[in-house]
Amino acid sequence: MMPTGPVDKSVKSAEAGSIRRAQLSRRSFLRTVCHVGCGVAGGASILGAACEVLPTLPEPEVRPPLLAGPELRASGTLTAGAGALFEMGEEGRGIGWGYNGRIPGPLVRLHRGEELDIRLRNRLPEATTVHWHGMLAPPSMDGHPADAVEPGGQYHYRFPVAQRAGTHWYHPHPHGRTGAQAALGLAGLLVVEDEGEAALDLPAGEREIPLVVRDGQIDARGRLTYQRDDRGTLGDFALINGVAYPRRQVSRDLHRLRLLNASNARVYRLAIPGLPLVLIGNDGGLLETPHHLRELTLGPGERADVLVDFGALPTGASAPLRCLRAGWDLLVFGATSAASRPGRIPETLPPSDLPEMGPPRRERDFVFEGHTRINGRRYEMGRIDFRVPFGETELWRFRSHAGAPHPVHVHGTHFRVVSRSGGRGRVFPWEAGLKDTVLVEEGETVEVLVRFQAHRGIYLIHCHKLEHEDRGMMMDFEVV
Ligand code: C2O
Ligand code: CU
Ligand code: CU
Repeated sequence: MMPTGPVDKSVKSAEAGSIRRAQLSRRSFLRTVCHVGCGVAGGASILGAACEVLPTLPEPEVRPPLLAGPELRASGTLTAGAGALFEMGEEGRGIGWGYNGRIPGPLVRLHRGEELDIRLRNRLPEATTVHWHGMLAPPSMDGHPADAVEPGGQYHYRFPVAQRAGTHWYHPHPHGRTGAQAALGLAGLLVVEDEGEAALDLPAGEREIPLVVRDGQIDARGRLTYQRDDRGTLGDFALINGVAYPRRQVSRDLHRLRLLNASNARVYRLAIPGLPLVLIGNDGGLLETPHHLRELTLGPGERADVLVDFGALPTGASAPLRCLRAGWDLLVFGATSAASRPGRIPETLPPSDLPEMGPPRRERDFVFEGHTRINGRRYEMGRIDFRVPFGETELWRFRSHAGAPHPVHVHGTHFRVVSRSGGRGRVFPWEAGLKDTVLVEEGETVEVLVRFQAHRGIYLIHCHKLEHEDRGMMMDFEVV
């Protein structure tokens, strides 16, 4: 085992190289994987017998990520380790790093008022942490790189869930290795529920579909690899809940999709051609009103909570979840029977519990430069770059200066996006409500109102393009 990951350079064939370079649709992905798998002399074929039947290869069904699996429930433990599985097609299994043996890790569901109480066991060959992205965790529970857990070590994450309902996630955050560990597979969803949201009677059970969207690179043996591109590493194929280009049967009625972009650097423009996406929530939970959209953009780390009415599809018809940027059909929905109990799109969302931010007490500027710097500096652990008074509203201005897009992420709070100038020049509906990550494209300046009122202590602000983060586009600040 190489210390850097499950990548064995000696078996990397020319064919595998071509996988990385191409932007693969499902069909060409399968053909290439098949070719590579069969072409490795003496190696295990990835797709095995499926190779001969490629033209009729059935699409794999997407499963929801395992619900907080028995292991997590019983032991309260997430074990980070190599040898975790994902699916590349009928009979095809890929391998990477994962939590509790799966890619993505188990879906953690918590109710407001409960406690997050999870022990991390590190079975990786290197240090790691778990960051609960979107959760208002106290600094020592936030997975800061300074709290790295060495191989063989453990860390007990424990804090009360004191925030509104929302779709969040967890992933590693070790110094300089976040990009590698995420690319190799480590990530999972974390959903917070509360009474206000429950009263809306949104689609649940089979009709609630959490979707962890990411891209990836694989080697000739079907192992996730990490060929770092300092400008932001793009994969060549899509994995949805750990399944490459899956299919999902849906009844012809209202569904709720909880979308997460868990990619290192890829930005998605998502649409289901012909069906409106009714956006009801994002990083910080429910919006004030639903927005009917034809498409939405998700940068790394961002989430979108959307309702889709599959009732408009005839039985037997299918519709893809498409990325309009990459031209990939990430997932194909197939309509089955009619609604057993038709859902209803709420006209308004519950009376807002969004915080009033009030006028800012001070302003701060952050220039995201190239691939490594904020305001001319690279990250240095232990250096506090600025201090923010607890409970005071501030206006933060994020400006890109080359190297964009920069998905800017702030730990320890959520913020409100108030303006965007330059570039796309407007704030989009998916940036309403509360955010913790906002996409700053080339030439853009984005202003947000931010306030820390959960905990005092040291938190991070960084670019969520993980190669930028790892190379220094990150700052420590202290809430005082
Ligand atoms: Cu999702 Cu500091 O990260
Ligand atoms: Cu975070
Ligand atoms: Cu960046």
